[in-house]
Amino acid sequence: MLWLFVLAIAVVVICVRHLLESWNFPPGPPRFPVIGSLLSIEKYGSHLILQATKLIPQYPKMVGFFAGRMRVVIINDFDLAKKVAFSDTFSGRLIGMYTETMRGYNRNIGVISTQGQIWRHNRRFSLSTLKEFGFGNKGMWSIIAEEAAIIVTDLKTKWDGQDFVVNQTFNISVLNILWKIVSGKRYHPDDPEMKELMRVLALVFKSAYIEEVFPILQYTKFTQEWYGHSQKQLLTQTFKSMFEQVIREHEQKLHTKESPRDFIDVYLEAKKGNDLFTKEDLIGICMDFFEAGGETVGSTLSWVLLYMALHPEVQKKCRQEIFNCLGVREPTMNDRGTVPYTEATIMEIQRCSSVAPSGLEHKALEDTELDGYTIKKDTLLFYNINSFFLDRDYWGDPENFRPERFLNDDGSKTLKYERFIPFGFGKRVCMGESLAKAELFIFTIMILQNLRIKISANHAKPDPGQYEAGITRSPLPFHVTLEAI
Ligand code: HEM
Ligand SMILES: *[C@@H]1O[C@H](CO)[C@@H](O)[C@H](O)[C@H]1NC(C)=O
Ligand SMILES: *[C@@H]1O[C@H](CO)[C@@H](O)[C@H](O)[C@H]1NC(C)=O
Repeated sequence: MLWLFVLAIAVVVICVRHLLESWNFPPGPPRFPVIGSLLSIEKYGSHLILQATKLIPQYPKMVGFFAGRMRVVIINDFDLAKKVAFSDTFSGRLIGMYTETMRGYNRNIGVISTQGQIWRHNRRFSLSTLKEFGFGNKGMWSIIAEEAAIIVTDLKTKWDGQDFVVNQTFNISVLNILWKIVSGKRYHPDDPEMKELMRVLALVFKSAYIEEVFPILQYTKFTQEWYGHSQKQLLTQTFKSMFEQVIREHEQKLHTKESPRDFIDVYLEAKKGNDLFTKEDLIGICMDFFEAGGETVGSTLSWVLLYMALHPEVQKKCRQEIFNCLGVREPTMNDRGTVPYTEATIMEIQRCSSVAPSGLEHKALEDTELDGYTIKKDTLLFYNINSFFLDRDYWGDPENFRPERFLNDDGSKTLKYERFIPFGFGKRVCMGESLAKAELFIFTIMILQNLRIKISANHAKPDPGQYEAGITRSPLPFHVTLEAI
């Protein structure tokens, strides 16, 4: 009898807690104690952002979900999103077992997953260092051009006149650029260390956060096994020790008085006598660069090939403009603004491909209110970048691929749109925006100078509707025919 009584009390407590927690929470699909909004997944799919986009007619401003007990709000309304993105109250990040004890050192490290003072300090330092990237004897632009030349030449010599599968084609180039910036090194694609890094990165990305949503899973050996606890631990450990290793190498070389060669050098120099700089945070920032700057740029470049193949007339126009302005020489920083049609095309590709459809979570740091609803401390908010790119009232014909929308009337200048925010906006706007833009500019131009990209006669036409969406959205492998120029 007693246990029945205890059970009844437990059920009542859980239900009351659920009612209290859902009180005045933003509206959304039905939610229940313990499982939360799990049932809506069957109906609308497991990707919350894409779910929220489908639910816009019902919930135009925002949709509330319960992932287990975790409260998640997706903001569909642009003005509300702006409010969230620019507010300090909503500038937190999820702090959980994975970020804290596996990825971190019993605390969150770096930029992406920190908040408050540490985040502000790490972000300010990293941004200004990236901005002033003039160290070593080569700037950021020539590092990028060097990598672009290698992959483009490789494609040109190996695949001229042939069908080619675009399947993370630029993964190595993009990671090499990051390695070079962070540690001054570049790897040969066949280097075992590079292969290991690639393998680990791909897996770290795929590992979901299920145990953060249902923390109870962390407490038994059996459930730990089910979500792959030890494998995750191993991967993260491998990833961390790679950076520990390069940092050690840098420390040994640092006392020579030469100018800093890379990010690690600059950080170690600044660290002297300043407690806000720690080796753990340096490792965190390095991991941030790879996690945030690899897949995003690589996927966008795959989308570039896809849209170029589907729109030969756009491709031709870009190439003509490039040959008129630059000829066959490598693009430099000063070429920005001189090839507006090509730049508008890159923007349109970013709009249509929506590579970071939801950005990253913004956690409420205290109990607060948003548009009349109660947002409790620790609620996660995402702004729906994907929906801003598809807003019919705003764009008119969002479903069309039309670079001209980003050009002024005489085609001499690109236009700015408030809702074109592929890198997010506000307090936590992408830290790699200038690096990413430089990469997209240089790679796109060098690809078009050297290769014609065509639909293959032997394979299905690439389909933008065939994609894989997690934190990033990338096309499934597709075929094109390449022709050397
Ligand atoms: C096309 C490529 C890229 C896209 C579309 C992109 C997009 C984004 C978005 C939407 C956010 C979240 C903004 C928010 O939470 O409000 C973000 C954050 C971030 N990105 Fe990027 N990104 C790209 C490339 C890069 C690169 C190359 C780096 C490398 C340095 C980078 C580093 C970061 C970091 C560190 C953050 C977290 C900032 C913070 O928490 O304060 N990203 N990015
Ligand atoms: C794409 O690459 C992955 C990893 O190398 C491989 O497993 C997969 O079979 C490739 N897909 C296609 C269609 O070639
Ligand atoms: C990266 O690209 C190379 C060459 O295209 C490919 O062999 C490799 O499987 C890719 N790596 C991943 C993790 O997909």
